Amino acid sequence: MDDLHRHISKLREDFTSGTLNESDVTKDPFAQFEKWLQEAVDSKIHEVQAMHLSTVSADNKPSSRIVYLREFENNNFSFYTNYNSKKSKELLANPNACFTFFWPELERQIRIEGFVEKASAEQSNNYYNQRPYESKIGAWASEQSHLLASRKELEQKVEQLKKQYTPETIVRPDFWGGFVLKANYYEFWQGRKSRLHDRICYEIKNNKWNISRLSP
Ligand SMILES: Cc1cc2nc3c(=O)[nH]c(=O)nc-3n(C[C@H](O)[C@H](O)[C@H](O)COP(=O)(O)O)c2cc1C
Repeated sequence: MDDLHRHISKLREDFTSGTLNESDVTKDPFAQFEKWLQEAVDSKIHEVQAMHLSTVSADNKPSSRIVYLREFENNNFSFYTNYNSKKSKELLANPNACFTFFWPELERQIRIEGFVEKASAEQSNNYYNQRPYESKIGAWASEQSHLLASRKELEQKVEQLKKQYTPETIVRPDFWGGFVLKANYYEFWQGRKSRLHDRICYEIKNNKWNISRLSP
């Protein structure tokens, strides 16, 4: 165990693969997001669509987990989940939320903050209907974030639901759907040598995006 502690405390990588200057970024942060996302896709980053979602409960306790980004358009970012889960309860009580992407191969991090709203039923249906049958059943079967007596209980539920719903008859459960985050803050982080990283952020001021540099 001592070795593990020593190993972790000594892990130290210098970031040297890129730079980020005020003159490099687009005026519009959503365009900058799409540019970096495209570069991440082109670099074949594993699970490029995975992002940390941070929420804060009504009594001010934060929590984070990974979710998949599924749609993005004009500063709106969508993901899908169970509306009775911990994250959803927190978001419904306190719509402030934050996404963080980390793409280690590019030495890049992006933070996006904003407010979430539930996606329309139409948007959630459209996304649900594209999912594979097994995932559709999974949405019905999982009382996400609630206690489960055993793995078996979940598997039996799946089997029973497969008898109830065929690929032709299955529809989206009301308790499952999307959230859309409307961004009001972006930060683009490029790792640099000796921890002197580049951080360019965008904030809305007087209906215009204001670009500034933050100290690393
Ligand atoms: C790579 C990855 C992708 C995930 N994508 C989703 C997702 O899109 N939606 C979701 O509800 N949970 C997703 N999860 C599971 C969540 O991280 C989390 O365990 C679950 O949503 C319950 O979170 P909560 O109890 O905080 O609500 C994903 C987990 C991983 C590791």
